[in-house]
Amino acid sequence: TLDSIADMIKAGFVKKIIVMAGAGISTSAGIPDFRSPGTGLYANLREYKLPYPEAIFTIDYFRKNPKPFYVLAKELYPGQFVPTLSHFFVSMLAKKGLLLRHYTQNIDCLERAAGVDSDLIVEAHGSFHESHCISDQCRKEYAQDWVKEQILNDKIPRCGVCKSLVKPDITFFGEGLPSRFFELLEEDFDACDLLIVMGTSLQVQPFASLTSKVRDSVPRLLINRERVGEAKIRSLGFDFDGRFGRKALHRDALVLGDCDEACLRFSDSLGWTDELVKL
Ligand code: OAD
Ligand code: ZN
Repeated sequence: TLDSIADMIKAGFVKKIIVMAGAGISTSAGIPDFRSPGTGLYANLREYKLPYPEAIFTIDYFRKNPKPFYVLAKELYPGQFVPTLSHFFVSMLAKKGLLLRHYTQNIDCLERAAGVDSDLIVEAHGSFHESHCISDQCRKEYAQDWVKEQILNDKIPRCGVCKSLVKPDITFFGEGLPSRFFELLEEDFDACDLLIVMGTSLQVQPFASLTSKVRDSVPRLLINRERVGEAKIRSLGFDFDGRFGRKALHRDALVLGDCDEACLRFSDSLGWTDELVKL
């Protein structure tokens, strides 16, 4: 349970926490997630006339029709949103020296805005910080300010050298994840002694498979509105109901519901709420 995990932290048994996060930690900031029926981004892209919703983030489609992505990028451009209580909870873990790393699939930069040091963050699906020409022969880097100005003024940024598109380094379907993700993950997940997964449907690989990379004895806590990432075969995914033996039953905890509410309860159990509220 949340309380027994809080007890382990208070007793000093847990010192190297990895958080894995997705769009659900930012919905209360007013940024839609992707897959929630009705409210998710993929259910609201009709005006873009895409062949399928994920096309907006698919590299081959983008090469042919970049406009929908840039229209959406303008709408979601970082800087207009305020971090949520969940982001500040992660920031508290960092302040207490308990955060080994925060792996996020989000591109909203709200963990940085909540004060988490960039060394402690892995932006697994990239970010708006850097942009490159998408031509494999060119790959010229462009400054964030210039690309931002183009996007906010409804222009499609093009490379001055080769006229190809210039795209923020957000990982699209069909592209590899940033090298930092692969450089850190083995060592981090070997060292981790508590895994907290929040606000993600765990539908996208390779990110989703990280839940199985922690050691067998490491407790895992899922905080989400729906059950996700459950094992179909032993040792690949969560086992909240102990379907694969008692040992498994004791390591996976499920808190179904809103992540801000759960983080507040967690922080109450830890005695951190006054500090969290100040943040
Ligand atoms: P999804 O939209 O797939 O999943 C969000 C999850 O968070 C769902 O399970 C929701 O039920 C849950 N949720 C939403 N709001 C919540 C809240 N306030 N409290 C608790 N749970 C909440 O988003 P991701 O898993 O982040 O990739 O999506 C993964 C990747 O798919 C994204 O990074 C993006 C997308 O395509 C790329 O574009 C490469
Ligand atoms: Zn170029």
